[in-house]
Amino acid sequence: MRVNHVGEVCAQALYAAQARFAKTDTLRQQFIAAGKEEEDHLAWTAERLRELGSHPSLLNPLWFVGAYVVGAVAAHVGDAQSLGFVVETERQVEAHLESHLRELPAEDARSLAIVEAMRQDEVAHGAAAQALGAATTPAPLRLAMTAMSKVMTATAYYI
Ligand SMILES: [Fe+2]
Ligand SMILES: [Fe+2]
Repeated sequence: MRVNHVGEVCAQALYAAQARFAKTDTLRQQFIAAGKEEEDHLAWTAERLRELGSHPSLLNPLWFVGAYVVGAVAAHVGDAQSLGFVVETERQVEAHLESHLRELPAEDARSLAIVEAMRQDEVAHGAAAQALGAATTPAPLRLAMTAMSKVMTATAYYI
């Protein structure tokens, strides 16, 4: 759940930066709307972490700043690329949440409900970005994003 929380911290930073530097108002509105749902996710995961007697990752400030920079860069490249970045990010998050759903114990109904609700929202965010004219993210960038998320999930698991 700490890994999920870190992901939502990054989602806050990405959507904030991508909304801030979006080149059109339509895109800005979409990113703000999606960002609001990510705020819910952040709150749900934070609350569940507390209930489980754990704590958020100590590296959150670092991840937030890093994700904000990445979001700002994506936005500056152009709206289509920025949308493409969202599509790829949400796809990777969705895959992560799906694997988490498979790993969670069946008796942890509350965590399962939270992760499933988030998964549905992330699917919708990706679809909305696709519908607005997302460009395909180049393969090297997709690989870099996968590598980065592996570092993130591995470290957040422990600290
Ligand atoms: Fe989310
Ligand atoms: Fe999302």
